[in-house]
Amino acid sequence: MVSYNIPIIPGDGIGPEVVAEGVKVVDAVSEALGFEVNWITLPYGADHYLQTGSLIGEGELKELSAYKAIYMGAVGDPRCPPGVLERGILLAIRFYFDEYVNLRPVKLFEGVPTPLRGKDHKDINFDVVRENTEDMYVGLGGRAFKGKSRFEHELKRKLYNVKFGLDVDSDHDEIAYQLMVISRKGAERVIRYAFERCKSQGRRKVTSVDKANVLTEAYSLWRNVFEQVARGYPEIQFEYTYVDAVTMWFVKNPEWFQMVVTPNMFGDIITDLGAMIQGGLGVAAGANINPEGTSMFEPIHGSAPKYKGTGKANPVAAILAAGLMLEHIGEVKASNVVEEAVKQVLKEGRVRTYDLGGFSKTSEVGDAIAYKAKTIASTF
Ligand code: NAD
Ligand code: IPM
Ligand code: MN
Repeated sequence: MVSYNIPIIPGDGIGPEVVAEGVKVVDAVSEALGFEVNWITLPYGADHYLQTGSLIGEGELKELSAYKAIYMGAVGDPRCPPGVLERGILLAIRFYFDEYVNLRPVKLFEGVPTPLRGKDHKDINFDVVRENTEDMYVGLGGRAFKGKSRFEHELKRKLYNVKFGLDVDSDHDEIAYQLMVISRKGAERVIRYAFERCKSQGRRKVTSVDKANVLTEAYSLWRNVFEQVARGYPEIQFEYTYVDAVTMWFVKNPEWFQMVVTPNMFGDIITDLGAMIQGGLGVAAGANINPEGTSMFEPIHGSAPKYKGTGKANPVAAILAAGLMLEHIGEVKASNVVEEAVKQVLKEGRVRTYDLGGFSKTSEVGDAIAYKAKTIASTF
C-alpha cells in the first residue's frame, strides 16, 4: 500500500481542534481509497516555547526537509508577545523551505452565506497567488534616535544573499523604518506559477495587484516582470489593479476575477477579505508551496484564542487545506473527494458551525465530512 509520512504542527488556540478534523477526514478518505498516511505530531507553538524557550531550530527545520508536505493549524498566543511565534515558527518555515507560492483559493460553496448581496457560488470562484518570501515580510528594519547611527542588514534567501548598510543622520527623537524587497527572480517564479495555474485550469485572465503608483521602485520591478511573463502566455489576458481598488472590486464584482497574483503584504490583506466573501475565515484554506521542496498546508485563519477549547471553531478551512495537501502529494482523487464531501455537507446545511449560522461542534462537522467522504469515495 502506498504510504505517506506527514508531519503535523497543530500549534495554538483552535489549531489543534481544527487539524484533528482534517486528520479525521484524510484518514477516512485514505482508508476508502487504499493508501495510508502516517502522521507525525510536532510540538511547536506557545506551550513548547514557554516550556523550553525554543521556537523551531535549524536542526528541526532540516529534519522536516525529508517530507514533501507539512500540515499546520495556526500559531499565536496571548501569553507570548505578538509576532514571536508567528515569525519564529510560521514565517521561519515558509522562508526556510522557500515556499514562494501562497495559494489561497477564494471559492464560495453552495449553501454558504456570503455578505455580498446578490452574489452566489457562480460569482465567487478565483485563486489568489500570494508571493510568500519577500516584500515587506523580509523583516529588515530598525529604530534610529537623534544623531548618527549605522545599520547593517542581511537578507538570506534560497535565491540570493543580500547585505544592506544604512547610515542614518537624524534630527528627530525617534524614527522607525522597515525595508521591503522585491527581486526579479522572486517575482518571476511566482507570477509564472500564477500563469501556469491559470492555463492548466482553463482560466483566461490574470490580475496583478500592487501599489506601483506609490511604492515605485519595488512594485515597478514587479510590474515589469509581470508584463514580461505575461508576454509568454498570449492566450491569457492580463491586467493590473492597485491594491486599494482591488478591495473595492472584490466586494463589488468578484465574478471579474479568475487568478490574482500579488506581492506578500497585499496578499495577506486581500485574502482575509477573500475569506470573508467566501463565507468567512472558517472556510478559507491556503497552501504554502515550493514546487520542488517541502510545502505547508494550513487554514488561512489564525489561532482565534477566544474560541480555544470551546468546540466552536469551524474545521472546514483546515479540512480544505488537507485537501490541497492531498493534491500536492499526488493523491488527486482523494483531494477531489475531500472537496466534494465539504461541498455536499455545506450544501445540505444540516451540520455547520456557528460562523455559518449553525449550532454544530467542530468535531460534528469533521464527522459529517469524513462520513460523506467515505460514501462518495467509491463513486469517484
Ligand atoms: P484569527 O484568524 O485567529 O481570528 C479572527 C476571528 O476570525 C476569530 O475571532 C473568529 O471570529 C474568526 N475565526 C477564525 N478562524 C475561525 C474558525 N476556524 N471558525 C470560526 N471562526 C473563525 O485572527 P487574529 O485574531 O487576528 O489572530 C489570532 C492569533 O493568530 C494571532 O496571534 C495571530 O498572529 C495568529 N495568526 C496566525 C496565523 C497562522 O498561524 N497561520 C494566521 C493568522 C493569524
Ligand atoms: C497569514 C498570517 C501570517 C501572515 C502571520 C501570522 C505571520 O496572517 O498566514 O495570513 O501575515 O502571513
Ligand atoms: Mn493573514
